[in-house]
Amino acid sequence: MAVSFTVDGQVVRVEGLHPTTTLLRWLRESGRVGTKEGCAEGDCGACTVVVAHDGRWRAVNSCLIPLPSLHGRAVLTVEGLARGDRAHPVQEAMVEALGSQCGYCTPGFVMTLFEGAHRTDLDQPWKLDDQLCGNLCRCTGYRPIRDALQQVAGTCPDDGLAAPATDEDALREDGEGGAWFAPTRVSEATAWLAEHPEARVIAGATDLGLDITQKHARFASLLSVDRLAELRGIEVAAGMATIGAATTLVELEDWSAEGLPVLHRMLRFFGARQIKHRATIGGNLCNASPIGDLAPVVLALGGAMELVSASGARTVSADDFFVAYRRTALQPGELLARVRLPIPPAATKLGAYKVSRRRELDISAVSAAFQVRVAEDAVTEARLAYGGMAATPIRARAAEALLVGRPWTEETVRAAADSLRESFQPLTDHRASAEYRHRVARNLLLGFFAETREQPFIALPDRPTATVQEVG
Ligand SMILES: Cc1cc2nc3c(=O)[nH]c(=O)nc-3n(C[C@H](O)[C@H](O)[C@H](O)COP(=O)(O)OP(=O)(O)OC[C@H]3O[C@@H](n4cnc5c(N)ncnc54)[C@H](O)[C@@H]3O)c2cc1C
Ligand code: FES
Ligand code: FES
Repeated sequence: MAVSFTVDGQVVRVEGLHPTTTLLRWLRESGRVGTKEGCAEGDCGACTVVVAHDGRWRAVNSCLIPLPSLHGRAVLTVEGLARGDRAHPVQEAMVEALGSQCGYCTPGFVMTLFEGAHRTDLDQPWKLDDQLCGNLCRCTGYRPIRDALQQVAGTCPDDGLAAPATDEDALREDGEGGAWFAPTRVSEATAWLAEHPEARVIAGATDLGLDITQKHARFASLLSVDRLAELRGIEVAAGMATIGAATTLVELEDWSAEGLPVLHRMLRFFGARQIKHRATIGGNLCNASPIGDLAPVVLALGGAMELVSASGARTVSADDFFVAYRRTALQPGELLARVRLPIPPAATKLGAYKVSRRRELDISAVSAAFQVRVAEDAVTEARLAYGGMAATPIRARAAEALLVGRPWTEETVRAAADSLRESFQPLTDHRASAEYRHRVARNLLLGFFAETREQPFIALPDRPTATVQEVG
């Protein structure tokens, strides 16, 4: 396998490694040990570097990036920031704010601060928290580090480190260690998949990457979708948003703040900035996790999936997409190409909730998304979708039936909420007990009623989970 990219401005060419070799492993084995390994699963941020291919530096977890996905791109590590003896302004800010003690987490924080320094949209306190939440520090506490970020955010220092824009070439490597194909056209991707039915599709690798780093999986053939421009981006026409499956969650977050705020609200508490720069909507839906956060939103909105293969395209409703535990309606040789989300009319009551042990960077114990339409004092449509309550993301059909045709009052909502216990048999696991999940599922619906009684939608309360937990 031969992959070339730049690291700290130097062109490197790497040959002979297995395609699942991660950027972190390669950096450290090639002597660039400033970048640290903590968890090797995207949780601690010690391994943060920035990567550019579209003229913007983006903070990512190097422990989850397979080396071939960097082909033709640029990587900047903590070792490339200083100019001679002169520390970079973000490094100086960390020192001045006393943001480093043992220093193990510091290189990762510095790279997250570097991205923050070059962002011009960190204009609200929650955005500073969001920028930092993918980095853990056990020594100093976060306030000094947050102070350092606040000092540098949006300053765009003249550091001679402009992010390059690069051409995205296809990459095809059929080495002995394993095959990696990253085409630039969907037709090439589906033709290759037809010839390699055993291949795994890989997008941002924030899910599949854990199989590599934790389970030591060595996939024989991988089809990367992250150079398929046809599968990226969002188009809105005639009340329908069509989202390319390889669209990243940061791209989705940027658009949905105005375009579909209910989705934005769920994305606010999804992973961390480093994860959302790589993770895609397609990867989140195709992994079919029962606690994946986007599935309830897609189900509540009445979304549909466009699937493509060498023999054509078909559309499957979100209701029919999740068929069993971690299984979807995708057949061998098929790719998820696009997700279609109807944009609800303005008066629709919408809510999205995530309940987890910790607010930032945690997997849901229970998540939910609701869409309710009311006309002439009666509910005309109700779509109540949950994660964490069954083997798949699932709608609460019995509760929906108890709402439709009835007034949107506390009495009817309580009756629907009480019915949830009969509809679900959730698991007890390390995230939550079955009883806790039952109670939370009920409270989320009651909380949704309380939130949307007077107004259709609350965009981004600072602590949405606390709001819902207070409802009895
Ligand atoms: C630290 C951390 C925090 C996380 N936090 C959250 C969270 O808060 N909420 C949450 O829901 N998830 C979370 N995740 C899980 C993961 O980040 C998401 O599910 C993410 O959206 C996966 O997208 P990806 O592009 O990285 O998928 P990948 O890992 O590349 O792929 C995931 C699966 O989807 C398949 N696939 C990908 N794209 C396609 C396609 N176009 N067609 C067919 N199959 C495809 C792959 O074969 C694979 O089976 C977290 C993960 C980590 C490591
Ligand atoms: S080593 Fe912890 S996020 Fe990468
Ligand atoms: S300074 Fe020690 S873990 Fe952050």
